[in-house]
Amino acid sequence: MAEQDKGFVGVFDSGVGGLTVLGCLVAELPHERFVFFGDSAHAPYGDKPPEEVLELSRRIAASLVDQGAKALVIACNTATSVAAQALRTEYPTIPVIGVEPALKPATLAPQHRRILVMATAATLRLGKFQRLEDRWGADSEVIEVPCVGLADLIEKGDPASPAIHELLERYLGPWRGKVDSVVLGCTHYPLIREQIREVMGDVPLFDGGEGTARETRRRLEAAGLLAPDSQEGSVELRSSIDTPDELAIYQRIFELARR
Ligand code: DGL
Repeated sequence: MAEQDKGFVGVFDSGVGGLTVLGCLVAELPHERFVFFGDSAHAPYGDKPPEEVLELSRRIAASLVDQGAKALVIACNTATSVAAQALRTEYPTIPVIGVEPALKPATLAPQHRRILVMATAATLRLGKFQRLEDRWGADSEVIEVPCVGLADLIEKGDPASPAIHELLERYLGPWRGKVDSVVLGCTHYPLIREQIREVMGDVPLFDGGEGTARETRRRLEAAGLLAPDSQEGSVELRSSIDTPDELAIYQRIFELARR
């Protein structure tokens, strides 16, 4: 007899960025059913007051749980900083997994004297990142670069656009040749790895997608919620801009994000 289906893994972000995390989740957990929700109608989250991001995250989580999510992955650094604690309190029986800028692996790399962290202004400002920096940044100089406007441009669906290149040149250009690595502290940024390399040259880039996928596996296993190998995995993409054009952008970006 087939094992009982325990539900799907709900994954959400302010928009298309979370698809980079979803790509890692699908690679790590091929038998799971995933429902991805991108809140593109309200993106970017990084420029919004924390209370608003908390309210938006709560609404998305409630709707995913109502529809049968067995676990939630907050595929957004900004929403994790603001809402992860609250959601864990509100859903004590559901694993809630968040993402954080991959500062830890960057500090464990052989070259880690100067680490540049790109993220939204909100992520860098909030206490969660400050605690991460206190914990892992002790023998590195951590250069925080809030990339205001960058996630918004990536949302438009053209990672190779000249506007993105110009903004990267403005934010990162001054640090070219001066840092040992770059942390992509927003889930939108792995979509523009090539463009970041064009500006920064051949430095290691760290993002949290694979670590989040491994942590999700651990948490599902610990809770006895892992899908059996006999289950066929699936992915459903949804957006708060529910139009065929928008969903086509999601589909295209998801294909790009699968590694
Ligand atoms: N992708 C999100 C993050 O990881 C936020 C981008 C935004 O909406 O500002 O922080």
